[in-house]
Amino acid sequence: MRDGFWYAVRMAYLYPYTAGVQVPSFFETDKIEPHGYFPEYLKIAADIGPSGKVCEIGAYYGESLRMWQALFPLGEVTGVDCNPDAVFPDGVIRVIKSQDDPSLVELGPFDLIVDDASHEGVLTDKTFSLMWRRVKPGGYYVIEDWYTGLVNGSATQYDPEMLVTVESLPHRLLSARNAECDSVTFRYGLAIAHKRRGAALEWKR
Ligand SMILES: C[S@@+](CC[C@H](N)C(=O)[O-])C[C@H]1O[C@@H](n2cnc3c(N)ncnc32)[C@H](O)[C@@H]1O
Repeated sequence: MRDGFWYAVRMAYLYPYTAGVQVPSFFETDKIEPHGYFPEYLKIAADIGPSGKVCEIGAYYGESLRMWQALFPLGEVTGVDCNPDAVFPDGVIRVIKSQDDPSLVELGPFDLIVDDASHEGVLTDKTFSLMWRRVKPGGYYVIEDWYTGLVNGSATQYDPEMLVTVESLPHRLLSARNAECDSVTFRYGLAIAHKRRGAALEWKR
């Protein structure tokens, strides 16, 4: 299902509220409901353009991978999951590995990397340490659901290390004026690091 940006908007954002009745979104990912991340991802997709290469770590039933295919109709979507039963839609590059597997650095480079896997702080940190270098200049790295580090964020997933990981990002990425990162944005559930357009092309090694 690769019908493009506005198709994705219609299906994900308008369709659920048709006639004022909330029905399941066309993309059954919690990025849309209940979390409301979709508008933020629309902005990112508009900045990157339709040919973007995306890697999402945490595939589950493949619903967000379908969403990426719609948002990047001329691009390429890679999904990573440690569970061999995870679902990967047709056309998605399937990678069965843990999020801290060092060989993940062989993937990419990508315009957008999203970590929606374990939501465990130490693992999330390891993935970031591996994969930030695989973000192209001008690209984005997103850590999802960091509120799982808050006591009231999710009773089943409370892991204070998640906060340690996301709170370390400004220090790690923005301590020098000409650092390769030019912004770290925090909003409900998303920590978004943007790699400066003029950053070194490390990924061309
Ligand atoms: C929250 S679900 C992903 C949801 C999906 N991104 C969506 O929006 O529809 C988390 C997924 O991460 C996977 N996962 C959990 N721990 C992982 C790890 N250490 N490495 C890789 N994948 C992991 C699980 O198997 C599960 O499929």
